[in-house]
Amino acid sequence: MNIDKNEDIEQYILSHIDEEGDLLRQLNRDAHVNLLKPRMLSGHLQGRMLKMFCRMMQPKYILELGTYTAYATLCLAEGAVDEAEIHTIEVNDELEDFILKYLYKTKLKDNIHLHIGDAMTIIPRIDRIFDLVFIDANKRHYIEYYNMIFDKVRSGGLIIADNTLWDGHVLDVAKPSDKQTIGIQEFNDLIARDDRVEKVILPVRDGLTLIWKK
Ligand SMILES: C[S@@+](CC[C@H](N)C(=O)[O-])C[C@H]1O[C@@H](n2cnc3c(N)ncnc32)[C@H](O)[C@@H]1O
Repeated sequence: MNIDKNEDIEQYILSHIDEEGDLLRQLNRDAHVNLLKPRMLSGHLQGRMLKMFCRMMQPKYILELGTYTAYATLCLAEGAVDEAEIHTIEVNDELEDFILKYLYKTKLKDNIHLHIGDAMTIIPRIDRIFDLVFIDANKRHYIEYYNMIFDKVRSGGLIIADNTLWDGHVLDVAKPSDKQTIGIQEFNDLIARDDRVEKVILPVRDGLTLIWKK
């Protein structure tokens, strides 16, 4: 498919799925005006998918690594049951005000726990067994995150990893200095070999891997 057609197909998809909704649209606009790298947020299609996964799985305990604007957090919350508990970890403390501004507006606001700090320090401190984990923090450390959370995911739980096609760079021979590409490639190789899980890579946006713990 050529690039123009790709854009048309994307528009077609967005006009034939559930709407993003006013709050997320406002957040998206706010991020584009006020934050660096707004493209990092999940966006309309991926956000609806995250909501749908929650609708289907009805997870009670959810963990997100890499909050950024809380766009995905809000989508997970939208799809989650009322008694769900969501933990989301963000290392950049300058994002805290932005994140809280939007978290306060959700129905599950009292059940969302924002942790400011490095995921690798915070994960061991959260004493929960999770039903769903969304890995979306530092691409260099996906393997470490995976190893840290694995025993904290119940059997039958779902791990979702974002950006696993890394703009197509997974096909490149990465320079030794390109630690993000190497991080994603090694993560994908590890998941492919891990027979404790079932996995698929969805070629949506920047690649979304679904990893189901046996
Ligand atoms: C791609 S963005 C997350 C987007 C968000 N999950 C969404 O889908 O809308 C990645 C975020 O991870 C954060 N991050 C990077 N390294 C981290 C770490 N070690 N611990 C926690 N957060 C980290 C970054 O500051 C950035 O805000």
